[in-house]
Amino acid sequence: MRLDKFLSVTKTATRSESSKLIKAGKVTVNGVTANKGDMQIDPERDKITFCGSDVIYKRFIYVMLNKPEGYVSATEDGREKTVLDLLPEPLSRMELFPCGRLDKNTLGLMILTNDGEGAHRVLSPKHHVPKLYRFKTCSPLTDKDVKKLEGGTDIGGYVTKPCKITLDDDGGVIELTEGKYHQIKRMAESVGNKITYLERISFGGVMLDKNLGRGDWRYLTPDEEEKIFGKRELSGKE
Ligand code: URA
Repeated sequence: MRLDKFLSVTKTATRSESSKLIKAGKVTVNGVTANKGDMQIDPERDKITFCGSDVIYKRFIYVMLNKPEGYVSATEDGREKTVLDLLPEPLSRMELFPCGRLDKNTLGLMILTNDGEGAHRVLSPKHHVPKLYRFKTCSPLTDKDVKKLEGGTDIGGYVTKPCKITLDDDGGVIELTEGKYHQIKRMAESVGNKITYLERISFGGVMLDKNLGRGDWRYLTPDEEEKIFGKRELSGKE
């Protein structure tokens, strides 16, 4: 990758600023001051500094967001606030998108990324990625309801895959490995009930960070990235 492109993809500078900064001697490659924007570098192996600080290259970005109520899971919406409105400036320019959808009034764990292939893999029904939701219903679910829901219930022309439900005093937790439109709400309706609260608390084995307030975000840790998206080989060809 060209050095000036590297500086622009890492949002260190725009492409035109990059050339000026390089000419001004502000950029080093492996300890040597660079002098040409078209110099080829390997973003995953070479050490680049700008004004003395390391420039970190991340091919893909993975963010955990604690979604509040009232935001839609989209990148743009003419009328509604989107989950991307919750991210600060540099991140909102990184072409992130929600990895899966939560309804406008559903809360909790949402993953955002710019890794299209990774997201496609994780969301594919073939991969059975588990997702846990805490729910409350209008009236308590009975053992008979739970049996029906766990075994697969008709939500209007589609019979859901087996799932796991644990009830508690407050409602319960349901683990799904698929994600049909309004699935949990329609499952509750199939046993004559109604969801009054829905929060996703885990995605692909990664729990919603308890230290994240509603509307707050943080990057996934490398372990969390690997848990959800799998191990990534470094190609050095980007
Ligand atoms: N099921 C629903 O009904 N809504 C969601 O947001 C997620 C799962």
